[in-house]
Amino acid sequence: MRDFENRGGTMYIGGASAVDIANEFGTPVYVIDEARVRENYRNVYNAFSRFMDTRIHYACKANTNLALLRILEQEGSGIDAVSIGEVRTCLRAGFTPDRIMYTGVNVSDRELREVAELGVMINLDSGSEMERLARIAPGHPVSFRITPGVGSGHSDKVITGSKGSKFGIPLDRVVETYARARDLGFDIRGIHAHIGSGGQTVEPFMDMMEVLIDLVNRIRDIGIELEFIDMGGGIGVPYRPQEQEMEVEELAMNLTDMIMEETDIRTIVLEPGRYIVCDAVVLLTGVNDVKDAGTKRYVGCDAGFNTLIRPAMYDSYHHVALANKFGKACTAKYDVVGPICESGDYLAHDRVLPDPEEGDIVAVYNAGAYGFSMSSNYNSRPLCREVLVNEGKAELVREAEEIEELWRHQIIPERLA
Ligand SMILES: Cc1ncc(COP(=O)(O)O)c(C=O)c1O
Repeated sequence: MRDFENRGGTMYIGGASAVDIANEFGTPVYVIDEARVRENYRNVYNAFSRFMDTRIHYACKANTNLALLRILEQEGSGIDAVSIGEVRTCLRAGFTPDRIMYTGVNVSDRELREVAELGVMINLDSGSEMERLARIAPGHPVSFRITPGVGSGHSDKVITGSKGSKFGIPLDRVVETYARARDLGFDIRGIHAHIGSGGQTVEPFMDMMEVLIDLVNRIRDIGIELEFIDMGGGIGVPYRPQEQEMEVEELAMNLTDMIMEETDIRTIVLEPGRYIVCDAVVLLTGVNDVKDAGTKRYVGCDAGFNTLIRPAMYDSYHHVALANKFGKACTAKYDVVGPICESGDYLAHDRVLPDPEEGDIVAVYNAGAYGFSMSSNYNSRPLCREVLVNEGKAELVREAEEIEELWRHQIIPERLA
């Protein structure tokens, strides 16, 4: 896991003091390190493009902050979008439709029509979706998400590629589905699979690629030449201090080698979300309360699972440190918990911290992927701010919500007024 700079006991993110950011903007606040976003993007792009024509479609479900999307648009990224909301957000951020691929699941005809009318390529998830799109937008550019029968991920909840999954075309129906797509007159571009999110080893990706390659060749045998193989996302990142990064260069070399050797395809598409944004964002949360409950000590913060749901939802580990006592000797073990009225509301269990006190600032690492994008208004708590740092300068890129905004879409019937 990559750490942040320590200047005299204060954590620095992108050259800016985390304490100054917390004081200036308030907590909780997500802090995005622009240089790390760019570095992560270039790492993965360079690893693959050494070997093959490479298209990165950032999986924006990980984080749809508009400023962050601008950075990736500048880097040359494309987009993997899963909803009309994501498509329109990315268009708003300046991506042209040809750089966006839409991979929905169980989506309505209305959504398909809107996506097609915007000129965005559609990665079809089922035979039903294909038949419906044939009526809505005949001849549209498409690819197919297949179920490779290989799954991998940090939690069962995010494994998507196993046999019987709700995602994709089952293996035994893939070739006939491509034949049907040709008969329906679609502009068929590629093949796609996504095994799951947060995998830590190269092998499942290789197993998936073997399945895709076999299909590409069987599809070519019925006269359909594909332009690209899309290996989905899922490249994991280390969340624990001693954990090592997955070897992206090794992954790239192995996968591209297989494709070049065994198929005529010369373009690989990847959809990393977590890899690009995860370690580029820190959540800063203020300590409101410190409690010794006898059997446990608690550090009570202003961010809970409304702000970062991953620990409560997936039991995910996020490293935590005190940004204002950075690197100081640790005194005891604490649970870091939030302001939500549920005992499942926690950010970290049993962490040694340096004598936490009210007013301290807890930094929660690896908060960039599925952090803000999964936050909620539970307990009627407004969504928090986001700040972008670059070369020591911090800029607000999202205002905190106001409580009044929580009522904006609600209607009290006249008779109850
Ligand atoms: C189709 C698809 N592509 C890409 C991703 C991104 O995965 P990750 O953030 O692990 O790279 C996901 C995540 O759920 C996905 O469903």
